[in-house]
Amino acid sequence: MAQEFIGIDEMVNNPQPETKSLRLPVLKGTLGPSVVDVRDLYKSKKIFTYDPGYTSTASCTSKITFIDGEQGQLLHRGYSIEELASQSTYLEVAYLLFNGELPTKDEYAAFEKEITYHTLLHEQVIHFFRGFRRDAHPVAVMIGVVGALSSFYHDSLDIQDKAQRDLASLRLLAKVPTIAAMAFRYSQGHPFMYPQNNLSYAGNFLHMLFGYPTESYEVDPVIERAMDQLLILHADHEQNASTSTVRMAGSSGANPFACLAAGMASLWGPAHGGANEAVLYMLHEIGDKSQIPKYIEKAKSKKDPFRLMGFGHRVYKNYDPRAAVLRESCHKVLEVLGIDDPLLELALELEKMALEDEYFLEKKLFPNVDFYSGLIFKALGIPTPMFTALFAVGRTAGWIAQWREMLEDPETKIGRPRQLYKGEKLRTYVPIVKR
Ligand code: SDX
Repeated sequence: MAQEFIGIDEMVNNPQPETKSLRLPVLKGTLGPSVVDVRDLYKSKKIFTYDPGYTSTASCTSKITFIDGEQGQLLHRGYSIEELASQSTYLEVAYLLFNGELPTKDEYAAFEKEITYHTLLHEQVIHFFRGFRRDAHPVAVMIGVVGALSSFYHDSLDIQDKAQRDLASLRLLAKVPTIAAMAFRYSQGHPFMYPQNNLSYAGNFLHMLFGYPTESYEVDPVIERAMDQLLILHADHEQNASTSTVRMAGSSGANPFACLAAGMASLWGPAHGGANEAVLYMLHEIGDKSQIPKYIEKAKSKKDPFRLMGFGHRVYKNYDPRAAVLRESCHKVLEVLGIDDPLLELALELEKMALEDEYFLEKKLFPNVDFYSGLIFKALGIPTPMFTALFAVGRTAGWIAQWREMLEDPETKIGRPRQLYKGEKLRTYVPIVKR
């Protein structure tokens, strides 16, 4: 296929005589927008591109996830999120993200066994929890403990060694739920629950969250399925902020535990994975339907920093397909559990009124993955401060898959963006006695 090029006319504000029009290669993907390859721009023309927030920048080549924001489409290795959420399991999706293909029955059984036998933590890791205050945010604990795993598992730190990358991948996918559950139990002052190898991935996670050593814990199949589906819906999402953080950390050769701790730190922000927690606090603040118009006006006001949490997305300019699945699942879970949560009614009314408002329609602000997830987490008995921790549990599969892909990509270099400098020109130091 003939290489395409585009021309960049001479930069009118760039007086350098040698700046003539420039032909840049255009690279095409399997799906989605093509890219202008600017890698040699600075070398040949001594100019940078400028794109704060990377709104028009592809940071890498990837085969893992495709998002069509206009259509509201999300594919993982070509499979739609709707089909995966309804027919697959989180571990199977993790295998798919890691390996590019759905596993055979034997491959799945072997993978599940590997994960099951890596769910335990080194017994000394437990002491780390004791250093936190009981009211520490669970994500603060997770960041600390996941990063600290690099001080225990020295046989899976060498990122140049594929076997060690594979071992670290298994350990992280297996141990992050254990750590998240322990963070929750520590905050309650309740005993830690050890993983149970006879349970499913989601069932084991629920057992570690809600079981007690004093009695047996029966995993409710409805809650188990809802939790597994929630993890699938949070598994990966292209080059979002936290995934880009994992890739950036990994590009310097940092070990996988440090990279995922960095990703969790980025996810924690209320503009990203912290939004699910913020949605619940917002719904509580709105209180009842009569207050919705006031909050919609607040969200529209440029003078007011308030934003409608759970609405809007950098990529989706249509309904987030994950939010659509979660909206249905929310109704089902609440109905099956016999929960009549007024916050769900409030959320549905808020969505309805926002999507009838010109401002939200014009700016294409639709509910995103975080709008309904918190209501389901709440129905499953998860306390609000744990919502982002659960997002991190789900996204662990995607962070690992993207980290692996980055390390296997021959084009990967250490991430080192430049800047448009607007500071002082060279000036002479003035001793303090003369200032
Ligand atoms: C996630 O990237 C990913 O894929 C993330 C994620 C994943 O799976 O990894 O999908 C998970 O993080 C979902 C997003 C969760 N965050 C929230 O729900 C927080 C509320 N939403 C926003 O803060 C915002 O919409 C973002 C951060 C999600 C997107 O921000 P952008 O793309 O930078 O868009 P923007 O801030 O430039 O907004 C465009 C316009 C602005 O108005 P103008 O300056 O053009 O006049 O829309 C307005 C914004 O003020 N706007 C909102 C709004 N979101 C955007 N106005 C009111 N309420 C909102 N929620």
